[in-house]
Amino acid sequence: MADKNILVTGGAGYIGSHTVLQLLQEGFRVVAVDNLYNSSEVAIKRVAELAGDAKKNLAFERVDLRDREALDTVFASTKFDAVIHFAGLKAVGESVHKPLLYYNNNLIGTITLLEVMAAHDCKNLIFSSSATVYGWPKQVPCTEEFSPSAANVYGRTKLIIEDICRDLQKSDSDWRIILLRYFNPVGAHPSGDIGEDPRGIPNNLMPFIQQVAVGRRPALSVYGNDYNTSDGTGVRDYIHIVDLADGHIAALYKLFQDQSIGCEVYNLGTGKGTSVLEMVAAFEKASGKKIPLIMADRRSGDAEIVYASTEKAKQELNWRAKYGIEEMCRDQWNWASKNPWGYEAPESQS
Ligand code: NAD
Ligand code: UD1
Repeated sequence: MADKNILVTGGAGYIGSHTVLQLLQEGFRVVAVDNLYNSSEVAIKRVAELAGDAKKNLAFERVDLRDREALDTVFASTKFDAVIHFAGLKAVGESVHKPLLYYNNNLIGTITLLEVMAAHDCKNLIFSSSATVYGWPKQVPCTEEFSPSAANVYGRTKLIIEDICRDLQKSDSDWRIILLRYFNPVGAHPSGDIGEDPRGIPNNLMPFIQQVAVGRRPALSVYGNDYNTSDGTGVRDYIHIVDLADGHIAALYKLFQDQSIGCEVYNLGTGKGTSVLEMVAAFEKASGKKIPLIMADRRSGDAEIVYASTEKAKQELNWRAKYGIEEMCRDQWNWASKNPWGYEAPESQS
Protein backbone atom coordinates (compact mmCIF):
# COMPACT_ATOMS: atom_id res chain seq x y z
CA MET A 1 0.00 0.00 0.00
CA ALA A 2 2.85 2.40 0.84
CA ASP A 3 4.52 1.71 -2.52
CA LYS A 4 3.30 5.01 -3.94
CA ASN A 5 4.55 8.43 -5.05
CA ILE A 6 3.29 11.37 -3.06
CA LEU A 7 3.73 15.05 -3.90
CA VAL A 8 3.84 17.26 -0.81
CA THR A 9 3.39 20.99 -1.43
CA GLY A 10 4.76 23.22 1.32
CA GLY A 11 6.95 20.28 2.32
CA ALA A 12 9.62 22.47 3.98
CA GLY A 13 7.07 24.10 6.30
CA TYR A 14 6.14 23.19 9.86
CA ILE A 15 3.41 20.63 9.20
CA GLY A 16 4.81 19.63 5.81
CA SER A 17 8.26 18.67 7.14
CA HIS A 18 6.84 16.48 9.92
CA THR A 19 4.44 14.81 7.49
CA VAL A 20 7.18 14.18 4.90
CA LEU A 21 9.24 12.42 7.57
CA GLN A 22 6.33 10.20 8.57
CA LEU A 23 5.53 9.41 4.93
CA LEU A 24 9.14 8.31 4.38
CA GLN A 25 9.11 6.21 7.54
CA GLU A 26 5.91 4.59 6.31
CA GLY A 27 7.64 3.62 3.04
CA PHE A 28 6.18 6.20 0.63
CA ARG A 29 8.29 7.94 -2.01
CA VAL A 30 8.01 11.71 -1.60
CA VAL A 31 8.66 14.73 -3.77
CA ALA A 32 8.42 17.90 -1.66
CA VAL A 33 7.95 21.26 -3.36
CA ASP A 34 8.17 24.62 -1.64
CA ASN A 35 9.09 28.17 -2.64
CA LEU A 36 10.77 28.62 0.81
CA TYR A 37 8.82 31.86 1.38
CA ASN A 38 8.16 30.88 4.99
CA SER A 39 10.63 28.06 5.50
CA SER A 40 14.21 26.90 5.18
CA GLU A 41 15.75 24.16 3.08
CA VAL A 42 17.56 23.12 6.27
CA ALA A 43 14.24 21.57 7.36
CA ILE A 44 14.36 19.23 4.35
CA LYS A 45 18.00 18.33 5.08
CA ARG A 46 17.09 17.49 8.68
CA VAL A 47 14.13 15.39 7.53
CA ALA A 48 16.49 13.46 5.22
CA GLU A 49 18.91 12.85 8.11
CA LEU A 50 16.10 11.66 10.39
CA ALA A 51 14.74 9.37 7.67
CA GLY A 52 17.97 7.28 7.53
CA ASP A 53 17.90 4.84 4.60
CA ALA A 54 14.49 6.11 3.49
CA LYS A 55 16.11 9.42 2.50
CA LYS A 56 16.69 7.84 -0.91
CA ASN A 57 12.92 8.17 -1.38
CA LEU A 58 12.91 11.95 -0.88
CA ALA A 59 13.38 14.65 -3.50
CA PHE A 60 13.00 18.39 -3.01
CA GLU A 61 12.21 21.02 -5.68
CA ARG A 62 12.15 24.74 -5.03
CA VAL A 63 8.98 25.62 -6.90
CA ASP A 64 6.26 28.21 -6.50
CA LEU A 65 2.89 26.60 -7.12
CA ARG A 66 1.84 29.52 -9.28
CA ASP A 67 4.69 28.73 -11.69
CA ARG A 68 2.71 26.38 -13.93
CA GLU A 69 5.66 25.43 -16.12
CA ALA A 70 7.86 24.46 -13.16
CA LEU A 71 5.03 22.49 -11.56
CA ASP A 72 4.29 20.76 -14.83
CA THR A 73 7.93 19.67 -15.03
CA VAL A 74 7.64 18.12 -11.55
CA PHE A 75 4.54 16.17 -12.62
CA ALA A 76 6.17 15.14 -15.89
CA SER A 77 9.09 13.55 -14.04
CA THR A 78 7.02 11.44 -11.61
CA LYS A 79 3.61 9.78 -11.85
CA PHE A 80 2.04 10.82 -8.53
CA ASP A 81 -0.57 8.69 -6.79
CA ALA A 82 -1.68 11.54 -4.52
CA VAL A 83 -0.93 15.11 -3.48
CA ILE A 84 -0.89 16.50 0.06
CA HIS A 85 -1.33 20.24 -0.30
CA PHE A 86 0.07 22.32 2.58
CA ALA A 87 1.50 25.27 0.65
CA GLY A 88 -0.15 28.53 1.56
CA LEU A 89 0.23 31.70 3.58
CA LYS A 90 -1.29 31.54 7.06
CA ALA A 91 -0.79 34.73 9.07
CA VAL A 92 -4.24 36.05 9.95
CA GLY A 93 -3.25 39.67 10.65
CA GLU A 94 -1.14 39.92 7.50
CA SER A 95 -3.99 38.47 5.43
CA VAL A 96 -6.25 41.33 6.51
CA HIS A 97 -3.64 43.94 5.54
CA LYS A 98 -2.55 42.24 2.33
CA PRO A 99 -5.66 40.51 0.98
CA LEU A 100 -4.45 40.37 -2.62
CA LEU A 101 -1.24 38.64 -1.57
CA TYR A 102 -3.29 35.98 0.24
CA TYR A 103 -5.91 35.53 -2.49
CA ASN A 104 -3.19 35.40 -5.12
CA ASN A 105 -0.93 32.96 -3.32
CA ASN A 106 -3.49 30.65 -1.75
CA LEU A 107 -6.15 30.62 -4.47
CA ILE A 108 -4.05 30.89 -7.64
CA GLY A 109 -1.53 28.46 -6.14
CA THR A 110 -4.28 25.91 -5.45
CA ILE A 111 -6.08 26.36 -8.78
CA THR A 112 -2.81 25.97 -10.69
CA LEU A 113 -2.03 22.83 -8.70
CA LEU A 114 -5.48 21.35 -9.40
CA GLU A 115 -5.19 22.13 -13.12
CA VAL A 116 -1.76 20.54 -13.39
CA MET A 117 -2.95 17.51 -11.39
CA ALA A 118 -5.90 17.08 -13.78
CA ALA A 119 -3.63 17.42 -16.81
CA HIS A 120 -1.48 14.58 -15.44
CA ASP A 121 -4.47 12.49 -14.36
CA CYS A 122 -3.62 12.64 -10.66
CA LYS A 123 -6.94 13.20 -8.87
CA ASN A 124 -6.28 12.19 -5.26
CA LEU A 125 -5.87 15.16 -2.94
CA ILE A 126 -5.52 15.94 0.76
CA PHE A 127 -5.91 19.62 1.60
CA SER A 128 -4.94 21.56 4.75
CA SER A 129 -8.04 23.36 5.94
CA SER A 130 -8.40 24.89 9.38
CA ALA A 131 -10.62 25.10 12.44
CA THR A 132 -10.71 28.81 11.60
CA VAL A 133 -13.73 27.91 9.40
CA TYR A 134 -15.74 27.35 12.64
CA GLY A 135 -15.33 31.05 13.56
CA TRP A 136 -16.78 31.65 17.07
CA PRO A 137 -18.71 28.39 17.36
CA LYS A 138 -22.21 28.54 18.92
CA GLN A 139 -21.43 25.30 20.73
CA VAL A 140 -18.54 22.90 21.25
CA PRO A 141 -17.28 20.42 20.30
CA CYS A 142 -17.19 21.53 16.66
CA THR A 143 -18.54 18.85 14.35
CA GLU A 144 -17.84 18.74 10.64
CA GLU A 145 -21.53 19.53 9.96
CA PHE A 146 -21.39 23.03 11.51
CA SER A 147 -21.95 25.67 8.87
CA PRO A 148 -18.59 27.29 8.20
CA SER A 149 -17.81 31.00 8.19
CA ALA A 150 -14.77 33.20 7.71
CA ALA A 151 -13.69 35.91 10.14
CA ASN A 152 -10.74 37.12 8.03
CA VAL A 153 -9.09 36.87 4.61
CA TYR A 154 -6.98 33.85 5.57
CA GLY A 155 -10.09 31.98 6.70
CA ARG A 156 -11.91 32.98 3.54
CA THR A 157 -9.16 31.44 1.38
CA LYS A 158 -9.71 28.16 3.27
CA LEU A 159 -13.48 28.32 2.75
CA ILE A 160 -13.12 29.15 -0.94
CA ILE A 161 -10.63 26.32 -1.50
CA GLU A 162 -12.95 23.87 0.30
CA ASP A 163 -15.76 24.99 -2.05
CA ILE A 164 -13.52 24.72 -5.12
CA CYS A 165 -12.70 21.13 -4.10
CA ARG A 166 -16.38 20.23 -3.64
CA ASP A 167 -17.33 21.78 -6.99
CA LEU A 168 -14.46 20.05 -8.75
CA GLN A 169 -15.38 16.65 -7.32
CA LYS A 170 -19.05 17.18 -8.26
CA SER A 171 -18.00 17.95 -11.82
CA ASP A 172 -15.76 14.87 -12.15
CA SER A 173 -16.23 11.88 -9.86
CA ASP A 174 -12.69 10.66 -10.55
CA TRP A 175 -11.52 13.27 -8.04
CA ARG A 176 -11.17 11.94 -4.49
CA ILE A 177 -10.50 14.66 -1.96
CA ILE A 178 -10.05 14.83 1.80
CA LEU A 179 -10.24 18.22 3.51
CA LEU A 180 -8.55 18.14 6.91
CA ARG A 181 -9.51 20.85 9.38
CA TYR A 182 -6.60 21.20 11.79
CA PHE A 183 -7.14 22.60 15.26
CA ASN A 184 -3.99 24.01 16.92
CA PRO A 185 -0.83 22.12 15.92
CA VAL A 186 2.02 22.51 18.42
CA GLY A 187 5.15 20.69 19.58
CA ALA A 188 7.90 19.18 17.48
CA HIS A 189 9.39 15.87 16.43
CA PRO A 190 10.77 14.17 19.58
CA SER A 191 14.32 14.32 18.14
CA GLY A 192 14.19 18.12 18.51
CA ASP A 193 15.73 18.40 15.03
CA ILE A 194 12.64 19.71 13.23
CA GLY A 195 9.99 22.06 14.56
CA GLU A 196 8.13 25.31 13.94
CA ASP A 197 10.30 28.25 12.91
CA PRO A 198 8.06 31.22 12.15
CA ARG A 199 9.54 34.28 10.41
CA GLY A 200 9.15 37.55 12.31
CA ILE A 201 7.01 37.97 15.42
CA PRO A 202 5.01 34.79 16.05
CA ASN A 203 1.22 35.18 15.85
CA ASN A 204 0.44 31.92 17.59
CA LEU A 205 0.64 31.10 21.26
CA MET A 206 3.19 28.27 21.42
CA PRO A 207 5.90 29.79 19.21
CA PHE A 208 5.57 32.98 21.24
CA ILE A 209 5.91 31.14 24.56
CA GLN A 210 8.92 29.31 23.15
CA GLN A 211 10.64 32.56 22.17
CA VAL A 212 10.04 34.00 25.63
CA ALA A 213 11.51 30.85 27.19
CA VAL A 214 14.73 31.11 25.18
CA GLY A 215 15.07 34.83 25.93
CA ARG A 216 14.21 36.19 22.49
CA ARG A 217 11.17 38.10 23.84
CA PRO A 218 10.60 39.53 27.32
CA ALA A 219 7.02 38.45 28.07
CA LEU A 220 3.89 36.83 26.68
CA SER A 221 0.82 39.02 26.22
CA VAL A 222 -2.27 37.08 27.26
CA TYR A 223 -5.05 38.23 24.93
CA GLY A 224 -7.98 38.55 27.29
CA ASN A 225 -8.67 37.13 30.75
CA ASP A 226 -12.37 37.95 30.87
CA TYR A 227 -13.71 35.11 28.73
CA ASN A 228 -16.36 32.82 30.10
CA THR A 229 -13.85 30.01 30.74
CA SER A 230 -12.41 28.41 33.90
CA ASP A 231 -9.61 30.99 34.26
CA GLY A 232 -10.90 33.69 31.89
CA THR A 233 -8.42 32.95 29.07
CA GLY A 234 -9.21 31.52 25.61
CA VAL A 235 -9.56 27.76 25.22
CA ARG A 236 -8.22 25.81 22.23
CA ASP A 237 -7.67 22.25 21.09
CA TYR A 238 -3.88 21.85 20.88
CA ILE A 239 -2.69 18.82 18.93
CA HIS A 240 0.83 17.36 18.85
CA ILE A 241 2.40 17.81 15.42
CA VAL A 242 3.34 14.12 15.27
CA ASP A 243 -0.32 13.16 15.82
CA LEU A 244 -1.34 15.65 13.15
CA ALA A 245 1.17 14.24 10.66
CA ASP A 246 -0.10 10.78 11.50
CA GLY A 247 -3.63 11.95 10.65
CA HIS A 248 -2.40 12.62 7.11
CA ILE A 249 -1.11 9.07 6.78
CA ALA A 250 -4.52 7.80 7.95
CA ALA A 251 -6.25 10.06 5.41
CA LEU A 252 -3.95 8.85 2.65
CA TYR A 253 -4.78 5.21 3.39
CA LYS A 254 -8.47 6.16 3.37
CA LEU A 255 -8.07 7.71 -0.10
CA PHE A 256 -6.31 4.64 -1.44
CA GLN A 257 -8.54 2.04 0.21
CA ASP A 258 -12.06 3.48 0.18
CA GLN A 259 -13.30 3.86 -3.37
CA SER A 260 -16.51 5.55 -2.13
CA ILE A 261 -14.66 8.72 -1.03
CA GLY A 262 -15.84 11.77 -2.98
CA CYS A 263 -15.00 14.97 -1.13
CA GLU A 264 -14.93 14.43 2.66
CA VAL A 265 -14.03 16.70 5.53
CA TYR A 266 -12.45 15.58 8.82
CA ASN A 267 -11.42 17.44 11.96
CA LEU A 268 -7.94 16.72 13.28
CA GLY A 269 -7.90 17.64 16.96
CA THR A 270 -7.79 15.94 20.34
CA GLY A 271 -11.30 16.86 21.48
CA LYS A 272 -9.86 18.50 24.62
CA GLY A 273 -9.81 22.20 25.41
CA THR A 274 -6.86 23.87 27.17
CA SER A 275 -6.73 27.51 28.32
CA VAL A 276 -3.84 29.90 27.67
CA LEU A 277 -2.84 29.85 31.34
CA GLU A 278 -2.98 26.04 31.46
CA MET A 279 -0.70 25.89 28.43
CA VAL A 280 1.73 28.38 30.00
CA ALA A 281 1.81 26.32 33.22
CA ALA A 282 2.46 23.10 31.27
CA PHE A 283 5.28 24.76 29.33
CA GLU A 284 6.85 26.18 32.50
CA LYS A 285 6.81 22.70 34.01
CA ALA A 286 8.34 21.09 30.91
CA SER A 287 11.05 23.73 30.49
CA GLY A 288 11.76 24.82 34.04
CA LYS A 289 11.54 28.41 32.71
CA LYS A 290 9.33 31.15 34.06
CA ILE A 291 7.19 32.82 31.39
CA PRO A 292 6.49 36.45 32.39
CA LEU A 293 2.93 37.45 31.48
CA ILE A 294 1.27 40.72 30.52
CA MET A 295 -2.51 40.74 30.72
CA ALA A 296 -3.66 42.39 27.48
CA ASP A 297 -6.94 43.12 25.70
CA ARG A 298 -8.74 40.48 23.71
CA ARG A 299 -7.36 39.99 20.18
CA SER A 300 -9.87 40.97 17.54
CA GLY A 301 -11.42 37.96 15.80
CA ASP A 302 -10.57 35.51 18.62
CA ALA A 303 -13.15 32.97 19.73
CA GLU A 304 -13.75 32.05 23.37
CA ILE A 305 -13.69 28.24 23.25
CA VAL A 306 -12.87 26.06 20.26
CA TYR A 307 -12.32 22.32 20.35
CA ALA A 308 -13.00 19.47 17.99
CA SER A 309 -15.40 16.64 17.79
CA THR A 310 -13.06 13.78 16.94
CA GLU A 311 -15.71 11.12 16.32
CA LYS A 312 -15.73 11.21 12.50
CA ALA A 313 -11.94 10.87 12.22
CA LYS A 314 -12.00 8.04 14.78
CA GLN A 315 -14.78 6.15 13.01
CA GLU A 316 -13.79 6.68 9.39
CA LEU A 317 -10.02 7.24 9.42
CA ASN A 318 -9.36 4.97 12.37
CA TRP A 319 -7.16 7.74 13.75
CA ARG A 320 -7.00 9.45 17.10
CA ALA A 321 -4.47 11.73 18.78
CA LYS A 322 -2.18 9.92 21.23
CA TYR A 323 -0.35 12.77 22.93
CA GLY A 324 -1.39 15.29 25.58
CA ILE A 325 -0.16 18.77 26.46
CA GLU A 326 2.66 17.38 28.58
CA GLU A 327 4.28 15.72 25.54
CA MET A 328 3.49 18.76 23.36
CA CYS A 329 5.35 21.06 25.77
CA ARG A 330 8.20 18.59 26.33
CA ASP A 331 8.87 18.28 22.59
CA GLN A 332 8.39 21.99 21.90
CA TRP A 333 10.98 22.76 24.57
CA ASN A 334 13.38 20.10 23.27
CA TRP A 335 13.23 21.72 19.79
CA ALA A 336 13.51 25.23 21.27
CA SER A 337 16.48 24.47 23.50
CA LYS A 338 18.35 22.71 20.68
CA ASN A 339 17.46 25.42 18.12
CA PRO A 340 16.78 28.67 19.99
CA TRP A 341 17.01 30.65 16.72
CA GLY A 342 15.23 28.08 14.59
CA TYR A 343 16.91 26.61 11.52
CA GLU A 344 19.10 29.57 10.65
CA ALA A 345 20.61 31.63 13.46
CA PRO A 346 21.22 35.28 12.54
CA GLU A 347 24.93 36.18 12.05
CA SER A 348 25.04 37.93 15.42
CA GLN A 349 23.96 34.73 17.23
CA SER A 350 26.02 32.08 15.46
P1 NAD B 1 4.20 26.93 7.04
O1 NAD B 1 4.21 28.36 6.65
O2 NAD B 1 5.25 26.46 7.99
O3 NAD B 1 4.24 26.00 5.74
C1 NAD B 1 3.66 26.38 4.52
C2 NAD B 1 4.73 26.23 3.45
O4 NAD B 1 4.18 26.58 2.17
C3 NAD B 1 5.93 27.16 3.68
O5 NAD B 1 7.11 26.38 3.69
C4 NAD B 1 5.91 28.13 2.52
O6 NAD B 1 7.20 28.53 2.12
C5 NAD B 1 5.18 27.31 1.46
N1 NAD B 1 4.47 28.09 0.44
C6 NAD B 1 3.60 29.12 0.64
N2 NAD B 1 3.13 29.56 -0.53
C7 NAD B 1 3.71 28.80 -1.50
C8 NAD B 1 3.62 28.78 -2.92
N3 NAD B 1 2.87 29.64 -3.59
N4 NAD B 1 4.35 27.86 -3.59
C9 NAD B 1 5.15 26.98 -2.93
N5 NAD B 1 5.28 26.97 -1.59
C10 NAD B 1 4.56 27.87 -0.88
O7 NAD B 1 2.75 26.61 7.61
P2 NAD B 1 2.20 25.30 8.32
O8 NAD B 1 1.90 25.65 9.72
O9 NAD B 1 3.07 24.16 8.03
O10 NAD B 1 0.81 25.16 7.56
C11 NAD B 1 0.62 24.30 6.46
C12 NAD B 1 -0.81 24.44 5.98
O11 NAD B 1 -1.70 24.12 7.06
C13 NAD B 1 -1.17 25.85 5.53
O12 NAD B 1 -2.02 25.75 4.41
C14 NAD B 1 -1.93 26.42 6.72
O13 NAD B 1 -2.86 27.39 6.34
C15 NAD B 1 -2.63 25.18 7.24
N6 NAD B 1 -2.97 25.27 8.68
C16 NAD B 1 -1.98 25.54 9.58
C17 NAD B 1 -2.31 25.66 10.92
C18 NAD B 1 -1.26 25.98 11.96
O14 NAD B 1 -1.60 26.39 13.06
N7 NAD B 1 0.02 25.79 11.68
C19 NAD B 1 -3.65 25.51 11.34
C20 NAD B 1 -4.61 25.20 10.39
C21 NAD B 1 -4.26 25.10 9.04
C1 UD1 C 1 -5.12 31.50 15.14
C2 UD1 C 1 -5.92 32.20 14.06
C3 UD1 C 1 -6.60 31.12 13.20
C4 UD1 C 1 -5.55 30.17 12.61
C5 UD1 C 1 -4.73 29.58 13.75
C6 UD1 C 1 -3.58 28.72 13.23
C7 UD1 C 1 -6.61 34.41 14.85
C8 UD1 C 1 -7.77 35.25 15.28
N1 UD1 C 1 -6.89 33.10 14.65
O1 UD1 C 1 -5.98 30.70 15.89
O2 UD1 C 1 -7.31 31.73 12.14
O3 UD1 C 1 -6.18 29.12 11.90
O4 UD1 C 1 -4.15 30.64 14.55
O5 UD1 C 1 -2.65 29.49 12.53
O6 UD1 C 1 -5.50 34.89 14.67
N2 UD1 C 1 -2.80 33.99 22.56
C9 UD1 C 1 -2.30 34.82 23.53
N3 UD1 C 1 -1.12 35.46 23.27
C10 UD1 C 1 -0.43 35.32 22.10
C11 UD1 C 1 -0.95 34.46 21.12
C12 UD1 C 1 -2.15 33.82 21.37
O7 UD1 C 1 -2.89 34.98 24.58
O8 UD1 C 1 0.64 35.95 21.94
C13 UD1 C 1 -4.05 33.27 22.83
C14 UD1 C 1 -5.17 33.56 21.85
O9 UD1 C 1 -5.92 34.65 22.26
C15 UD1 C 1 -5.94 32.22 21.88
C16 UD1 C 1 -4.87 31.18 22.14
O10 UD1 C 1 -3.76 31.88 22.70
O11 UD1 C 1 -6.86 32.21 22.94
C17 UD1 C 1 -4.39 30.46 20.89
O12 UD1 C 1 -4.00 31.45 19.93
P1 UD1 C 1 -3.32 31.04 18.53
O13 UD1 C 1 -2.19 30.14 18.79
O14 UD1 C 1 -3.05 32.30 17.79
O15 UD1 C 1 -4.43 30.18 17.81
P2 UD1 C 1 -5.96 30.53 17.42
O16 UD1 C 1 -6.40 31.76 18.07
O17 UD1 C 1 -6.75 29.31 17.71
